[in-house]
Amino acid sequence: MAEAQKERSEGDRVRIFDTTLRDGEQSPGISLNKQEKLEIAGQLARLGVDVIEAGFPIASPGDFDAVQEIAREVHGPVICGLARTGFADIDAAWNAVKDSERPRIHTFISTSDIHIEHQLQTTREDVKGQARAAVAHARGYCEDVEFSPMDATRADLEFTAEVLQIAIDEGATTINVPDTVGYSMPDEYADMFRELVRLVPGLAGVTLSVHCHDDLGLAVANSFAGVRAGCRQVECAINGIGERAGNASLEEVVMLLRTREASHGLWTGVNTVELARTSRMVSRMTGYQVQPNKAIVGRNAFAHEAGIHQDGVLKERTTYEIMDATTIGLESNSIVLGKHSGRHALRNALEELGFTVEGAALNMAFKRFKEVADRKKKVTALDLEALVSDEMRQSDGAFGLESFDIEAGSDRSPFARVSVRLPGGELGEGSFTGDGPVDAFFSALNAATGREARLKEYHVSAVTAGRDALAEVTVLLELGGRLAQGQGVSPDTMEASGRAYLRAIANAIADSPVAEAEHHVQEASKAPTP
Ligand code: KIV
Ligand code: ZN
Repeated sequence: MAEAQKERSEGDRVRIFDTTLRDGEQSPGISLNKQEKLEIAGQLARLGVDVIEAGFPIASPGDFDAVQEIAREVHGPVICGLARTGFADIDAAWNAVKDSERPRIHTFISTSDIHIEHQLQTTREDVKGQARAAVAHARGYCEDVEFSPMDATRADLEFTAEVLQIAIDEGATTINVPDTVGYSMPDEYADMFRELVRLVPGLAGVTLSVHCHDDLGLAVANSFAGVRAGCRQVECAINGIGERAGNASLEEVVMLLRTREASHGLWTGVNTVELARTSRMVSRMTGYQVQPNKAIVGRNAFAHEAGIHQDGVLKERTTYEIMDATTIGLESNSIVLGKHSGRHALRNALEELGFTVEGAALNMAFKRFKEVADRKKKVTALDLEALVSDEMRQSDGAFGLESFDIEAGSDRSPFARVSVRLPGGELGEGSFTGDGPVDAFFSALNAATGREARLKEYHVSAVTAGRDALAEVTVLLELGGRLAQGQGVSPDTMEASGRAYLRAIANAIADSPVAEAEHHVQEASKAPTP
């Protein structure tokens, strides 16, 4: 049934706070490097989110650098850094975000007794003191300060209210009340906000925010219930990634608000045509595949299988579709290049896709494009997107697949020989006979890099339809007790696999500098003494 659109008011605008790069990045196996985080943040800005939570700057020098670079390079959204209540955390968060045009510090402490007693091992009084000091300290630096009482949905509400009053008194401008463990139900979550507003009159003067986890599959429903109860910021992540079962999925929240706006009157500033591309980029860079039937961005979200549905949609799209695929940018892949397209055409196509590629990067992109165009008649927007994001993610400390040779057949054991450019510039060689061609190949890569990585997951998908499609491979491996993922794209599935495997090894090493230092000591001790 068509619903009449009402006039929009600023008070009904819901701010979208994206935490893909912070809570999302905390998902097991995800380890994005600085370049990847910068790419994603740039795309989030194109998507039009209001706030980017760029990371947890105290967590590691790598996290700090990435947040700082995003704060300096990404314009439009507020750039936010997360901090516990300790001053060292807040100082790190401020130093990382202070160069942004619109910096924010987000500080948090738990208010549930379970966390206070068992995790923090302190008292409620101490939590109040820490919240007071943290917000005051953060406000000393920055006018935009967010405070979150962690695990609030399992906490004593009156105590949480007291802590919120303190945070507001000290100058917090956004109060975010998280369902940290995904325990709440929509009615309960909405009632909690109504009760908090009654107990803490100061909440009327700040932005109230929701942050929901999906342990019971209710993150989007709970977020929506909170918004209906008056919250005007939703914390969410692309593809719903995040701790454990993940956060509320940004694309679901945004499209729920957009599709049913006439009914609830709420709206966001998100440029929804960028949703599909943002989802693909995050999936590609994190190695977290999107399930085919996922709402909004799943491969089948706009597909119709049953004959009766197909018949209906052919006659009139709205018979079985409540959204138009073009509103999330699913059918805007008009770019097609061929093997005669030149550098100029490539640059224009990339610009249309939102990539500004010049100089050496353009030369490299052109070289990769030519390799593909020689094998594939038409290079589409999806191909270019996959290739360029693959190429842009080369970072310091990377291993390069120089050459490989794999022999396999029904009458012999698979054998692989590889040559790898090591981060220091020298060549590493490896060969191996394995149980299958992939086993032989990856074992040879272990030998060439001098690492004992163990394969955990291996996925191959095609970027587009057709037998000449580009292969996109995702690898999850374990190295030195660390899980790390990597992706690779190529017209050749084995080459894509090798790129993905080497990238995953590099990510594991980047994530574990201590283990890497030990590796070098062990290698040095194997060297013959003069
Ligand atoms: O889930 C949670 O409570 C969080 C806080 C840091 C906001 O992620
Ligand atoms: Zn969270």
